[in-house]
Amino acid sequence: MRLDFAEIARLDSKFPLNSMPNTESQIITVGVTGASGALYARALLRLLDADRRVSRVFLVATDAGLRLLSTELAIVAADVKKLPSLLTGTAAKKIEYLPNKDIGASIASGSAAVDAMVIIPCSAGALGSIAAGTASDLLTRAADVCLKERRPLVLCLRETPLNRIHLENMLRLHDAGATVMPAMPAFYYDPKTIDAMVDQFAYRVLAQLGIPQGNQYQWKGGPKGKG
Ligand SMILES: Cc1cc2nc3c(=O)[nH]c(=O)nc-3n(C[C@H](O)[C@H](O)[C@H](O)COP(=O)(O)O)c2cc1C
Repeated sequence: MRLDFAEIARLDSKFPLNSMPNTESQIITVGVTGASGALYARALLRLLDADRRVSRVFLVATDAGLRLLSTELAIVAADVKKLPSLLTGTAAKKIEYLPNKDIGASIASGSAAVDAMVIIPCSAGALGSIAAGTASDLLTRAADVCLKERRPLVLCLRETPLNRIHLENMLRLHDAGATVMPAMPAFYYDPKTIDAMVDQFAYRVLAQLGIPQGNQYQWKGGPKGKG
């Protein structure tokens, strides 16, 4: 097949990356643990919900993760099945909440169709459990499955300062195939709001998952970095 670059350029301008036609159908698992940064989870879920390249999202939260959503976003779901829509502010039809205790849920098996997993925010405790391979709840089992199936696993650790155990666990997970991506916002694009910072971090996470976003800031170079 001959590539028509003019046609590709026309389509690129018509459909920014995050609203491209559904040429692929990604299934993503999102884990939320009890580390500060519930805003990151909300931003990421909103983007996944809106992205036509994503057909399904599984959401699993630890008890501490649910507590964080309550503490930082005042989101408390009497019915946890409603958590996705409370987080995205939409019907969130493609996001399915799976209880962390349900070790028999689909994502606990490597045979389930999942393309990648992100844990955002990721606590030092969850990082340690995954590094140790305990797989004692759905979140850590699903992460373990990603590693054994060689699927992308992105861990947005939020902890500071880091002790030797954290550092060793990060290296262990890196060596096992995970991407350790600490929740560290950048400042070189001159963000004006916390939401702008959080969104840019979420774009970077999605790029790691192979779902790049058209709004992601790209460094232009030049003496002051403005190109
Ligand atoms: C308000 C609040 C904020 C917390 N922030 C962090 C954090 O940023 N990083 C972290 O590793 N743990 C943090 N913790 C502690 C974890 O929630 C705790 O270690 C918990 O056992 C983690 O459980 P999980 O990994 O099953 O979610 C926080 C706890 C609370 C209540």
